[in-house]
Amino acid sequence: MLDGKRILLVISGGIAAYKSLILIRRLRERGAKVRCILSKGGAQFVTPLSVSALSHEKAYLDQFSLTDESEMGHLRLSQEADLVVVAPATADILAKMAHGLADELATTVLLASAAPILVAPAMNHRMWLHPATLENMHKLELRGVKRVGPNQGPLAEDEMGIGRMAEPEEILAAIEAQFRAGGRLAGLRALVTSGPTHEAIDPVRYIANRSSGKQGHAIAAALAELGAETVLVSGPTALADPPGVSVFRIESARDMLTACERALPVEVAVCAAAVADWRVAAAADQKIKKNGGPDAPSLTLAENPDILATLSQPGNRRPRLVVGFAAETENVVVNARVKRAKKGCDWILANDVAPGTGTFGGDRNTIHLVTEKGVETWPTLAKDQVARKLAERIAETLRPAAA
Ligand code: CTP
Repeated sequence: MLDGKRILLVISGGIAAYKSLILIRRLRERGAKVRCILSKGGAQFVTPLSVSALSHEKAYLDQFSLTDESEMGHLRLSQEADLVVVAPATADILAKMAHGLADELATTVLLASAAPILVAPAMNHRMWLHPATLENMHKLELRGVKRVGPNQGPLAEDEMGIGRMAEPEEILAAIEAQFRAGGRLAGLRALVTSGPTHEAIDPVRYIANRSSGKQGHAIAAALAELGAETVLVSGPTALADPPGVSVFRIESARDMLTACERALPVEVAVCAAAVADWRVAAAADQKIKKNGGPDAPSLTLAENPDILATLSQPGNRRPRLVVGFAAETENVVVNARVKRAKKGCDWILANDVAPGTGTFGGDRNTIHLVTEKGVETWPTLAKDQVARKLAERIAETLRPAAA
């Protein structure tokens, strides 16, 4: 519930603005107080009348309006909010936020606000994937701005791709996650790896594995739910970004390591990714053609960096708690103990991935938690339950006073 929480909703100019009207209604149903600012673009897509009818508040529009300034003032607007939500967030407003522009009421309030900010980007996929937008978003995330979406799907221009604004329910979940940030892991930074890695053979082919990323994504969501500032470094998956989590998408093991090192320092790291142990030593720059000669090409492999072992190395950047997974098909606990010692991590969550267990790609998992104290076997649980149990155990360990 969001009883009495003051949400300042900035609606910028995208077709998805109509969904923000539904968001206002959902927020009010949950007890939030919603005040809205329409950017100049936003006012082209939804009317101040609809916004004020749904929010039961005046809709703010114009920085230079004498009545708006005398009644409320942009500084009060920015200060009287527990959370600022920008939905839809266009490429334009993200760029302005990244560079600190204050050219109208919406951007001025964003610059003046000390409240946490959540953005729901919405734009054409080419605009979202443009390096300028990705850089702006990255910059904002490093500053602590939270993001929900964008999603894959049909876009306004009869095109398919990534750029759809998250659905109102997803934005709502991200807003609720933000308010749970007063939770037991509040103020603590967490890093999670998830999914497979793709190791290029040539520009069109790669080596990969069957990991779905479900367990890693669920762990990131569970840590964020307890209030941890969570970074998820994920290989390619079909999953939506967990609400309230900063997601960095990478392809190869080496990129995953770089992204993880950038996320340091963190208090806890959970390596749930199924990282490819090997990559092609020299990936071809051009597509390998089958008519190149009589013999099938052979691939020379090189070992990938071990991210879990790297993060576990002693030093002042080592997280206080490093957790790894062990996928085993036999002697699960014995092998997990060996792996824990070999990698130097604190905990190993060992799971049986033998054929028939349905663990890989499935929704359930049977975990043996191997720590310095011994082994604890958990009942078979859904992956999101495993994630919550692990997040609770992390909270008990890192925040014992609050346990
Ligand atoms: N891991 C990693 N980087 C790698 C390989 C693995 O971070 N290059 C992490 C995984 O995220 C997981 C753990 O190490 O937490 C799994 O270790 P790994 O040695 O790959 O074990 P298995 O996949 O179980 O394979 P094997 O038994 O063949 O060693």
